Amino acid sequence: MTAQLNPRGDVAVLVPAAGAGVRLGPGRPKALRPLAGEPLLVHAVRRIAAAPSVRTIVVAAPAAEAAGAAALLAPITEVTVVVGGATRQESVAAALAAVPAGPEIILVHDAARALAPSALVESVAAAVRSGRDAVIPVLPVVDTVKQVTDGELVVGTVDRSALRAVQTPQGFRRAVLAAAHAEAVDPLTDDAGLVEKRGVPVHCVPGSEYALKITRPFDLALAEHLLGTAP
Ligand code: C5P
Repeated sequence: MTAQLNPRGDVAVLVPAAGAGVRLGPGRPKALRPLAGEPLLVHAVRRIAAAPSVRTIVVAAPAAEAAGAAALLAPITEVTVVVGGATRQESVAAALAAVPAGPEIILVHDAARALAPSALVESVAAAVRSGRDAVIPVLPVVDTVKQVTDGELVVGTVDRSALRAVQTPQGFRRAVLAAAHAEAVDPLTDDAGLVEKRGVPVHCVPGSEYALKITRPFDLALAEHLLGTAP
């Protein structure tokens, strides 16, 4: 299947995919590990490309894998591949710099969330289009959460009703994300964190169980099981 990107779309999706994936065990960079025979990056990009609002996709790949990633993705969709950086934030900044003029909505989506549905891409983009500066997909936290010290001694129980687990794609008005990355000092684990620090309100939309982050070997096994029913 060759997905055609919509030339009238108003969304660019940045895909940081330059991490090593140490927690997944030894092997290739995480985005290139196979899930049912295809790299995680291929699964992720196929779902992004199927979202009707998407006009541009920019992937940040490890330097040694950039040409290989471009060759893998070429049969799936039009995509720009850039070399990522030492941190996730540097990878996102490199991808952002490669977005051509046009799209005013920018989504940032981890390649590690390979099964995030196209509908989630659309719902985050729609929330930005409706006037939000920054939008994140979230799920309620189902476990009881404790604060511990020394990794072992419980010092308190957090009220989970006010907590949310945050996923990607995260969506931003282009100028808001560009300003946050231009001034970013401390690397954070997500882009909404950078925007929050600048006092920009960040809004939540419902996330998806399928957008789980494939981090450990268990997650990869779970994702293989989900693949048959994933939208
Ligand atoms: O390491 P973590 O799982 O938080 O990485 C989240 C996403 O950021 C992954 O898709 C990973 O490939 C990407 N990343 C990156 N450049 C880095 C580190 C992580 O693009 N230097």
